[in-house]
Amino acid sequence: MKLLKQILGICSTQAPKDEGCWVNNGDHISVGLNRAKEILKPGGAVRLEGKGLPDRILLFQGLDGAFYAVKNKCTHIGGRRIDPTVDKDRITCCSVMGSVFNYKGEVVSGPAKKPLTTYPVTVDQGRILISLTKGQ
Ligand code: FES
Repeated sequence: MKLLKQILGICSTQAPKDEGCWVNNGDHISVGLNRAKEILKPGGAVRLEGKGLPDRILLFQGLDGAFYAVKNKCTHIGGRRIDPTVDKDRITCCSVMGSVFNYKGEVVSGPAKKPLTTYPVTVDQGRILISLTKGQ
């Protein structure tokens, strides 16, 4: 089953069950922590897509307890989505080739040569704020 998902490029991370937990404010995304239940534990993640976003984004809580946001598109030619790695501080492309990146978006292994775009994340008054203007 895992191989089939890799061949088809089906990632494990889903959109938030509560789609209303996040809004795109143009220069940043605001995510309500009390409604985005999926990211409340280390390794938890959601896909943020649509709502006028210029790129799809993976928001996840790292195993270190910090929140991270990256462009959810592998830099290898297939451009597949990324998932957090369950037991390591890594994120992994869902394709068969499975490029691996660290939380800074740097390539650790795989055919991808370029880093992922990362976005600054802050937490303020129960909301996660992802800056879209400072992605690098
Ligand atoms: S698309 Fe990610 S390794 Fe090929």
